[in-house]
Amino acid sequence: MWKNRDLIEITDFTRKDIEILFKQADIFLETRLAPLKILEGKIMATAFFEPSTRTRLSFEAAMHRLGGSVIGFSSTAGTSMEKGESPEDTIRMLDTYSDVIVIRHPGEGVMEGFARLAKQPLINAGEGQTNHPTQALVDLYTIIKEKGKIEGLEYGVMGDVKHARTVKDFIKGLSIFGIREITVVSPKKLAPDESFVKSIEWRGIKLNHYEKIEDVISRLDVLYLVRLQVERFSNLREAKEFKGSYILTLEKLKSAKKDLRILHPLPRTEELPSEVDNTPYAAYFKQVFYSIPVRMAILSLILTDIERVQEGLI
Ligand code: NCD
Repeated sequence: MWKNRDLIEITDFTRKDIEILFKQADIFLETRLAPLKILEGKIMATAFFEPSTRTRLSFEAAMHRLGGSVIGFSSTAGTSMEKGESPEDTIRMLDTYSDVIVIRHPGEGVMEGFARLAKQPLINAGEGQTNHPTQALVDLYTIIKEKGKIEGLEYGVMGDVKHARTVKDFIKGLSIFGIREITVVSPKKLAPDESFVKSIEWRGIKLNHYEKIEDVISRLDVLYLVRLQVERFSNLREAKEFKGSYILTLEKLKSAKKDLRILHPLPRTEELPSEVDNTPYAAYFKQVFYSIPVRMAILSLILTDIERVQEGLI
């Protein structure tokens, strides 16, 4: 059941929960995202302690389309945190002002603590290097829309898998749908660390590491690409070493299957040149589009009885 639930980790949700969410997203798509009033009178607070364009604005757009209102901040500049107020006190305050709180924060494992402070449901919009569950839901939904299914496909992930939370949550999301093997393509030092590999093995997925996309591209159905997470390195000099170390050019896509789909959570840097945009492989702007029905579904399932309506109970 979604109602009043915190959305902190994708693995807290079952396949059935996610299918209910996708069904709701389909309903919003069928009505072409027409404005509704189901969240009229509800307030969503956004607390972004880290930069964001898509996640914050798509949550806001989703809330507006459902008739609700939005308050919040997109950086700590201009808030009382500049005077030394703690994130905890800031969240306590937003909790009294709103009906749902959407938070992005650079700290690892901070969301659990925030959720304990807040009476209202909390949605994790990006947490350190580990979690970004709503992006993973958008990614899985895009695959269903593009390929008709999640199971039975060959998946590859490419780039800074060590530091990027999106790709880690994408892999965790695939584990919920029974995927057993994923190809990781990255420079050795950007491969996921041991603890992630172990935790995902425990969830039934074996990661196979390669350094060159050319060696695996021909067998992939879906390739998930992420940028170098420069801000997560201890210093810029270290990050520079990897700049340009992986770039998906058209040349490298030569032996790709005709119906390969490339996903990218965006923003992109040099790893995904714009020459790929006009190929049938590019699905990353579709991800941007699908983020609206998926986030509309998240908000309406958490804030209303719509799940019971879906089940025909009311
Ligand atoms: C990502 C993030 O914040 O982790 N952005 C997003 O939400 N689509 C990806 C990134 O910054 O690389």
